[in-house]
Amino acid sequence: MTVTLVAKKLPASTPIFCTSTATWTQDRQALSAPQRAWAQSTGFSGKADSHLLLPDEEGGVALVLAGVRAADDPYALSALPQALPAGRYRLHVDGLGLDPQAAALSWSLGDYVFDAYKARGRVGAELLLAQGPEAERGIAVAGAMTAVRDLVNTPAEAMGPQHLEAAVKMLAKAHKAKVKVWEGEALLKANFPAIHAVGRAAAADRQPRLIELTWGDAKAPLLSLVGKGVCFDSGGLDIKPADGMRLMKKDMGGAANAIGLGLLVMALKLPVRLQLLIPAVENAISGNAFRPGDIFRTRSGQTIEIGNTDAEGRVILCDALTYAAEGKPDLIVDMATLTGAARVALGAELPALFTRDTAQGRELTDLGLAEKDPLWPLPLWQGYQVLIDTPVADISNSGSSPLAGAITAALFLERFIPADQPWLHIDLFAWNPLARPGRPVGGEAQTIRTLLHWLERRYSA
Ligand code: BES
Ligand code: MN
Ligand code: ZN
Repeated sequence: MTVTLVAKKLPASTPIFCTSTATWTQDRQALSAPQRAWAQSTGFSGKADSHLLLPDEEGGVALVLAGVRAADDPYALSALPQALPAGRYRLHVDGLGLDPQAAALSWSLGDYVFDAYKARGRVGAELLLAQGPEAERGIAVAGAMTAVRDLVNTPAEAMGPQHLEAAVKMLAKAHKAKVKVWEGEALLKANFPAIHAVGRAAAADRQPRLIELTWGDAKAPLLSLVGKGVCFDSGGLDIKPADGMRLMKKDMGGAANAIGLGLLVMALKLPVRLQLLIPAVENAISGNAFRPGDIFRTRSGQTIEIGNTDAEGRVILCDALTYAAEGKPDLIVDMATLTGAARVALGAELPALFTRDTAQGRELTDLGLAEKDPLWPLPLWQGYQVLIDTPVADISNSGSSPLAGAITAALFLERFIPADQPWLHIDLFAWNPLARPGRPVGGEAQTIRTLLHWLERRYSA
C-alpha cells in the first residue's frame, strides 16, 4: 500500500503543495520569494499533472509543487507516485486543499502497475495521510479498482473460469459471504443450458460455470449484480481475425467490474442483500463447440438461434439474468464487454447505459459526469426488435443488420427481464487504450464509483 493513513502526528516527510492554473497566482503567495522566483524561471504554472521539486539549503527536496485539475479530481495526484524520488510525502497545509478521498484514490491509481510478470521490485513514493473516513473510502475504492484491473490484465491462461471462481471465493471469505457454483454437466441439470452451450468446448479444467455469491441481511432489499465472464473470446467457430482477438483476455471485464462493485457494497456495508452472479466461460473452438445455426432452449423457456458464435456474451447472460429475475430483486445491474458496436458509438471511455427508466438514465449520466466516472445512455429502441427475429426460433443472438449492434444486444437481454423488473445494462470496454496519469494502458474499472454513489443514495435510510 503506497498510501498510509496515520492516526497521530505525521512523521518526517516531504510536503506536496497542490495548486492549479486557476489558483496558482494566489496559492504561490504562501511560498518564499526564492521559491516563487524558481517556479517562475522554470515555467511552472500549476498545469494539471505537472510538478516541480524545490530544493532546500542542504540540497534536499524542500517541497514538491504539484498542478492538479481540481480538489476532488480522481486523478489529482496520479502523475506523482511514479515520478517522484522514493520516499515519504504528505500534503502541504497551504495551497489548494485536496479532498482526502481524491488524494488517496488518485495516488493509488497513479501508483498502479501490472507487474505480476515483471522481474523487478519498485521502491515507490509513499503518501502519508491523516486517518479519517474520507481517506479510508478513497483507499477502499482504489483497492476495488485495482482489483478490477488485475483481474482484467491477468492473461487468459491464468484467468480461466476456474480462476474467476477462485477470485469470487476469496472475496466471499473476506466478507463472510456464501458461494455456490454450478460447473459443467451440473449446469444442464440445474437448467442453465445457454451457459453450458457457449462454454462446453473449453478444456476439462476450464469448464463453464455459474458462480453465485450471496451476502447480507435477509430482510434488506435484494441487489443483483451480473457480470459477463468470458475469460477468452476467440469468437468460437465464427473465429475472430487476429486484430479482433488480441485483447479478448479482457472479455471478462464485466465480471471484473461486477466483482469490484460487489466488493465495495460489502466493504462499505451497504444496507442491501447482495447477489453477485458470474457466468464464467471460455468461448473456445473444439469438436463439441456450439455452432452457427444451432438452436438452444434457454432457462427462460425461450429458444435462441445462434446466428453467430461470436455473439456469445448475450447467450450466457440470458440464463444468468433469468435466474437473477427469479429472485425478484429490487434491482438487477448487468455489466458486460458485450459489443464492438458500443465502442464504435461511444469510444473506450464511455460505457453505454441501457434502462427502461429514462429519468433514471439521466440521473446516472449526471452523476457519472460529477464523479468523473462517466456512462452514457443508449435507447432500448423497440422498433429494432425485428432485427433479432428469426423464422426458426424465438430470438436470434445476432442481429440481421450490422446497424445498432449495441441496441440489438441490449434488446436481446431485455427479453429475459420481466416487464416490471428494475434493470440496468452497462456495455463497457474495461480497457484503457491510451496511457494517462492514473490510467495506464490495460484493464480498467468503469462505472463502479458512479454506481456505488448511486446505490448509496438509493438505499440510504
Ligand atoms: N466481446 C465481444 C465484444 C467486444 C469486441 C467488446 C471488441 C469490446 C471490444 C463480443 O462477444 C462480440 O464479439 N460481439 C460481436 C457481436 C456480433 C457477432 C453480433 C461484435 O460486437 O462484433
Ligand atoms: Mn464474441
Ligand atoms: Zn465476447
